[in-house]
Amino acid sequence: MDCVIELKNVTYSYPLTTVPAIKDLSVKIEKGKFYGVIGENGSGKTTFCALLRGFAPSFYKGDLSGEVLVEGRSTLEYGPGELASKIGFVFQNPFTQISGVKDTVFEEVAYGLENFGVPVDEIERRVVEVMKLTDIESLAEKNPFDLSGGQMQRVALASVLVIEPEILVIDEPTSQLDPEGTESVFKIISKLKEKKKTVILVEHKIDLIAEYADEVLVFKDGSLVAAGDKQEILSDMSLLEKGVALPQVAILGNTLKEEGIPLKYIPVTEKQAEEVFSELITGKE
Ligand SMILES: Nc1ncnc2c1ncn2[C@@H]1O[C@H](COP(=O)(O)OP(=O)(O)OP(=O)(O)O)[C@@H](O)[C@H]1O
Ligand SMILES: [Mg+2]
Repeated sequence: MDCVIELKNVTYSYPLTTVPAIKDLSVKIEKGKFYGVIGENGSGKTTFCALLRGFAPSFYKGDLSGEVLVEGRSTLEYGPGELASKIGFVFQNPFTQISGVKDTVFEEVAYGLENFGVPVDEIERRVVEVMKLTDIESLAEKNPFDLSGGQMQRVALASVLVIEPEILVIDEPTSQLDPEGTESVFKIISKLKEKKKTVILVEHKIDLIAEYADEVLVFKDGSLVAAGDKQEILSDMSLLEKGVALPQVAILGNTLKEEGIPLKYIPVTEKQAEEVFSELITGKE
């Protein structure tokens, strides 16, 4: 197993708080896998992301015990810019991502690359490419602060993708997007997997997690309450009591199984449901 990030018994509290936001968390993130992070509001998903990127504690301060290792080295030992090139981070609130120092979307997307000293012609090529990918070409000359929430979310994603980091931590990238925009963002993110990138994605839309993730991490009250293969986790009915929404097809599958109807397996995506349920019908005829 090629492990890119490892958390060992991590407990983290924000300043001036009495209850830790993350409690005794141990987890390994494998290279090239797509992790879906789920859990109810306030369960610690964003804090987990901030720990991976080193923002907790470098930016938020607070108390950290245990270790967060990125490629075997503690995040506390990395220099300020060092983790930025390794881990791309898309904030939950896209407004946070906008630098505030650039007047156009084009310049905004290019900004990160400028900071890494990439040659101008290469910057231009990469920015054009990523703007096409994220479908924001028509916004190139606009002021980043004049965008809608959904447009800003695409620009935020573009400004991270352009850096081509090995690891991407993406916190609810579709909260402001309509279903069509959401699907297209997931398609973009899934392409990253083909490029062997490691993706850690927080998302409430469970059907999309079911379709795209390899592994699922479930948070509740700052603890990791379930982790593993998406097929196994998303068909586990006990998670419903932990504030997790499961795919409708998985709930239906479990109900049928309880009724004694033999299913090949519990489906978690619509495609799987079609397969499992149609086999059931044809098998019965
Ligand atoms: N900057 C902060 N200072 C103090 N407490 C914080 C801060 N940010 C988050 N918390 C607290 O830490 C806990 C975990 O919050 P976190 O934002 O990580 O949850 P989340 O799962 O991302 O929630 P959501 O689904 O609403 O985004 C919550 O109790 C929250 O109130
Ligand atoms: Mg959050």
